[in-house]
Amino acid sequence: MQFKRMNRWAWLGVLACLFAQQSLAATEAPIDGMALYQKHCAACHEGKVPRAPHMITFSTIGAEAVLTAMNEGVMRSQASALSATEREVLAGFLAGEAMAPPNPIMACAQPMATLARDDKSAMKGWGGDARNQRHAPEHSTGLTRDNVGQLALKWVFAYPGALRARSQPLVHDGVVFVGSQSGDIYALDLETGCAHWTYSAGAEVRSSLSLGHVPGRPNPVLYMGDFSATVHAVDALDGSLIWRTAVGDHPDATITGSPKLHEGKLYVPISSSEWATAADPGYACCTFQGGVVAVDAASGALEWRNHVIDEAAVETSEKNPFGVPRKGPAGAPVWNSPTIDADRGVLYVGTGEGYTSPAADTSDAVVAFALETGERRWAKQLLGGDAWNMACFIGEAANCPEEDGPDLDIGASTILWSDGDRDYLLVGQKSGDVYALDPDEDGAVLWHNKVGRGGFLGGVHWGMSADTESLFVPIADTTITGRFTGRGLSGNPCPRPDLG
Ligand code: HEC
Repeated sequence: MQFKRMNRWAWLGVLACLFAQQSLAATEAPIDGMALYQKHCAACHEGKVPRAPHMITFSTIGAEAVLTAMNEGVMRSQASALSATEREVLAGFLAGEAMAPPNPIMACAQPMATLARDDKSAMKGWGGDARNQRHAPEHSTGLTRDNVGQLALKWVFAYPGALRARSQPLVHDGVVFVGSQSGDIYALDLETGCAHWTYSAGAEVRSSLSLGHVPGRPNPVLYMGDFSATVHAVDALDGSLIWRTAVGDHPDATITGSPKLHEGKLYVPISSSEWATAADPGYACCTFQGGVVAVDAASGALEWRNHVIDEAAVETSEKNPFGVPRKGPAGAPVWNSPTIDADRGVLYVGTGEGYTSPAADTSDAVVAFALETGERRWAKQLLGGDAWNMACFIGEAANCPEEDGPDLDIGASTILWSDGDRDYLLVGQKSGDVYALDPDEDGAVLWHNKVGRGGFLGGVHWGMSADTESLFVPIADTTITGRFTGRGLSGNPCPRPDLG
């Protein structure tokens, strides 16, 4: 396991070695991809860490995607000890190919001439509306229970260098706007799938884009957040950059939930990959605190920032078994798209687990922030004492908090719903629990129902949906139970879906 943090003298030593190596370069053996993989990656990528894709999948995504993961993506901390050349060699080795440019995508013959300001039947971003109801009425889609079976394949667009497609498409005036794992944003023609333009955000865009208008600009504006916690605004007609603002205040900060646009402000949820960095026993774990920032939609200027955890993270008197100081409190990442409650002047987000022990009392909680100022109005914790990070899976578990899970985030966006008489804030958790909270009583529980077995990869992981009568709850239960007994996953490391 690499030791990422070194003191100044160790660094000087490394630099001296690098210079020495450079002068010897001509006579040295070539860089060995397998050796780099064994030293820096194998501990997690051979089935021990369920969320880490198995090494054999790297050949399906290509060298470019593996390199992006190390340079700007989710593995930037794990690869931080490697030089640029070592990363390239390693990426080529893992993908089973020399570095080659990705296959070109099909470009449209004609550039987009105009783009309507408004589109009533638009599929708008992640939540569909400010309340995150994620429900498209029949008349807006033409899809019914009777005709949905008649859908046929129209076209296919293959994302270059991608292992997955996470960004939910936004459709506006005949154009599909979507982000990708490589960080490229595509404007695809709804009829043919050709690309009108591509904008490169530079890091993965996992979430959906938001579309809005800025006074004085004729074309609609697209907003997006990327994996290195930068927010971008681009012209939806041609993909040209309008502004770009880095909003993270931690080296591992990321944006994985969709920013929400409301009355001239963009509300951006802040998550992190520090849960993975914590696996390095040399890392002083942990300092990231989940939060939300508000950015001016016209200029990109930061309007406010607030964290979910009140107390700033500090170095404690405790050390991990390798003598590295423990820090905290940390965690409670926000990886869902905020729900806007215009009537009450607040937004709601769900939070994830604590990274350090004891878990912060705003982890696995729903938190309300004032739209104008970012002031925290209330927080309702739905599971206390949940602290976990990736160290719990591997090796000596040096930075694994003593709670050791169960890692039951509130990952899905909350939904603000009304039955005509009153409002309910609907919340789903990875535990498989669904709650209705009272937005007028600081999130007091109105009802609760456990609808799945739950688990750290299960339960309600992504979006729920609500129409006028029902709440629809997707369940992602797996046979991995999510108990981390004995510091490491117990049970079958290659789970089969339980069809029972
Ligand atoms: C401490 C454990 C750990 C180590 C060490 C590690 N990885 Fe990972 N890796 C993960 C996990 C967990 C994920 C999935 C992360 C996610 O989905 O958010 C992942 C994802 C990836 C992905 C998929 C990229 C993506 O965007 O999902 C690639 C490629 C990758 N790792 C390459 C590497 C390489 C190359 C190394 C060695 C330099 C490495 N990893 C070291 C745990 C690890």
